[in-house]
Amino acid sequence: MDTNVQKRRENKKSLRIKVISLGNAEVGKSCIIKRYCEKRFVPKYLATIGIDYGVTKVQVRDREIKVNIFDMAGHPFFYEVRNEFYKDSQGVILVYDVGLRESFDALDSWLTEMKQEMGSQANMESIIFVVCANKVDLTKRRVVDESEGRLWAESRGFQYFETSAQSGEGISEMFQGFFSSITDMCENGGKRPNPEVSIGFTKEQADTIRRIRSSKDSWDMLGVKPGATREEVNKAYRKLAVLLHPDKCVAPGSEDAFKAVVNARTSLLKNIK
Ligand code: GTP
Ligand code: MG
Repeated sequence: MDTNVQKRRENKKSLRIKVISLGNAEVGKSCIIKRYCEKRFVPKYLATIGIDYGVTKVQVRDREIKVNIFDMAGHPFFYEVRNEFYKDSQGVILVYDVGLRESFDALDSWLTEMKQEMGSQANMESIIFVVCANKVDLTKRRVVDESEGRLWAESRGFQYFETSAQSGEGISEMFQGFFSSITDMCENGGKRPNPEVSIGFTKEQADTIRRIRSSKDSWDMLGVKPGATREEVNKAYRKLAVLLHPDKCVAPGSEDAFKAVVNARTSLLKNIK
């Protein structure tokens, strides 16, 4: 075969991508990457100093993918080092520790830092994000449950995985899903699929579930003022029931939110004349 034709075919099949890991210090970013690339786990904490860089090759369908992995340090101290490395990424692994709520709450600020550093280049639609709810092996200390993490991720169009770098749970599924989504995106002209279409629930449903989870009492949960009338309670209830009914809403946590709303209405109506 003509060597130029052969070269062009090979070029179409091979792909180079850059991925980065983000999340608070000590959540397990380096261990997740080590578990995948080296099939081992190191229990001793060795903080990443600034950035660790590695290359690996993976196969997605008929394409060979050369993956450049930039493993970021989570400690604020290394901000000046890592801020150089956000640009030109096709994939981001966002990691939090299911036993540390602040590491989950910090995910938004990691996205903000990333957007800031990418500046005018910040086209988040051309990046695949996966969220790792890590250290799921430590069940007793878990404080962020699956539906909460999944809702945060999926409402942004990000894939969600429960992982343990220690046991290996979810790690290869996560990387396979991640690399195949990046390949799909590259083959789709560099745009990821529309999240509203692929996730099957709306931002209003996601925001309502989040609001219900963090409400302080039954009034707050139904979104009515303390001392509201039966009519006001019933009206608010009906609106939420339509929005969150499990037959209509597939958002993570919708079933629990729906039950909580039913209970809130029952307990309020008991005390309203
Ligand atoms: P920085 O590099 O400082 O940003 O931290 P990191 O996010 O890379 O964390 P690292 O991977 O170094 O892991 C931190 C600590 O958590 C280490 O002591 C690991 O052994 C431990 N660890 C990581 N993943 C898991 C896990 O899935 N389960 C358990 N039990 N421990 C884990
Ligand atoms: Mg690290």
